[in-house]
Amino acid sequence: MNVTVLTAISDSRREAELAAGLHDTDLGVTVVRRCVDVADLLAAGAAGLAQAVVLSSDLRRLDRATVHRLHDTGLAVVALAPDDQATHERLRRLGIEVVVADGAVAARVAAAVVGAVRDHGPAGPPAPPYPADPEVGGGGGRLVAVWGAAGAPGRSVVAVNLASELAGLGHSALCVDLDTYSAAVAQLVGLLDDGSGVAAACRAANAGSLDESMLRRLSVEVRPRLRVLTGITAAHRWPEIRPALLEVVVDRARRAFDFVVVDVGFCVEQDEELSYDTVAPRRNGAAVSVLRAADLTIAVAAADPVGIARFVGAVGDLPTAGQGSPHLTVINRVRRSAIGRGDPAQQIALALGRYADIGEAVMVPDDPSTADAAIATGRTWAEVAPGSPARQALAGLARRIAGDPAPAAAPRWRGRLMQVRS
Ligand SMILES: Nc1ncnc2c1ncn2[C@@H]1O[C@H](COP(=O)(O)OP(=O)(O)O)[C@@H](O)[C@H]1O
Ligand SMILES: [Mg+2]
Repeated sequence: MNVTVLTAISDSRREAELAAGLHDTDLGVTVVRRCVDVADLLAAGAAGLAQAVVLSSDLRRLDRATVHRLHDTGLAVVALAPDDQATHERLRRLGIEVVVADGAVAARVAAAVVGAVRDHGPAGPPAPPYPADPEVGGGGGRLVAVWGAAGAPGRSVVAVNLASELAGLGHSALCVDLDTYSAAVAQLVGLLDDGSGVAAACRAANAGSLDESMLRRLSVEVRPRLRVLTGITAAHRWPEIRPALLEVVVDRARRAFDFVVVDVGFCVEQDEELSYDTVAPRRNGAAVSVLRAADLTIAVAAADPVGIARFVGAVGDLPTAGQGSPHLTVINRVRRSAIGRGDPAQQIALALGRYADIGEAVMVPDDPSTADAAIATGRTWAEVAPGSPARQALAGLARRIAGDPAPAAAPRWRGRLMQVRS
């Protein structure tokens, strides 16, 4: 078997020595091109010049996307690396399975290349643009997605206060701002810093370096047990938040926190592409993937005729709809003045039952003074008005999600959690 290889090795002396060693000893492996960097390597790979790549672990800009593109063009990838566990771990996370010691003799490298080419086989069908992360699937934390239709029904306020109430109950919680149209979580908790935690976490996921402690470092502790992963500060940065990377972020978050509460914004249409992930980025992909993975979706609607109509029109199209995954509806800013006659909660419940087949909703009263005091000072509702019915409704929602019993002296708001038959 004669195998053609590309090399991309940072130490050029080592590269020359290895190429000569492979050539002289006639091991059936020939170096057809020595590439100067990742871009050169990708171009040579795409041109079909070789069957395998030998690269050094310290190659600049080596990330998961690169490894995947090399694999996708049919190349087997062999890394030369120092004998330390952290490097081997990083390479594994990048999707590189075959690793040979830095200083190995040419015969050893040749054997690894031949084995890798045999195992890799010819290029298969196009795969998603990132290799599967080997660790995804563990972690006991629960993923709660907070969604709401267009307008501003209060998704971010619900997400932040729900996470803070869960923290107040003694659970560790991470609130993630994944609204790629209008991030708001940082402001709601009084953070002025303009970096994006979620973009940084996605970059680390792409570099194969995101673990639980790195995720903790990239998030900000805003209250005891409550951390926030801030959103993208400029809406045009949305391509940085790719579903396959976010999957890794969510996985690490689930390992590190009891609850991961994600503000997914309003737009979850999947008109761009129905498949899971393609080379072209999709703006709503991240929100869609979180909704699909969520243990619970909180769907927030504004308690006025426009808000309810938008909600009813959109809730059926949620990526989770029809999959039997649990939904909880929150009707926010409930007030008589926007509904007209009768008890507003009852009127809304009737409409939900009739038009969306929703039999149960948590009603959060309109409370501009609490909401404004909170937003003006970057504090939570529990901090600015602990006894307010609006805060009590969200505290009850948190207890319900956490499975904690209500406190002994049940406040009046409990009557607001209603069951309505449709
Ligand atoms: N129950 C409520 N009563 C009064 N104002 C509220 C209530 N819930 C949210 N608000 C206010 O509504 C505005 C929009 O809330 P936000 O959570 O940012 O909406 P979204 O994330 O859906 O765009 C904010 O100014 C917020 O303080
Ligand atoms: Mg918002």
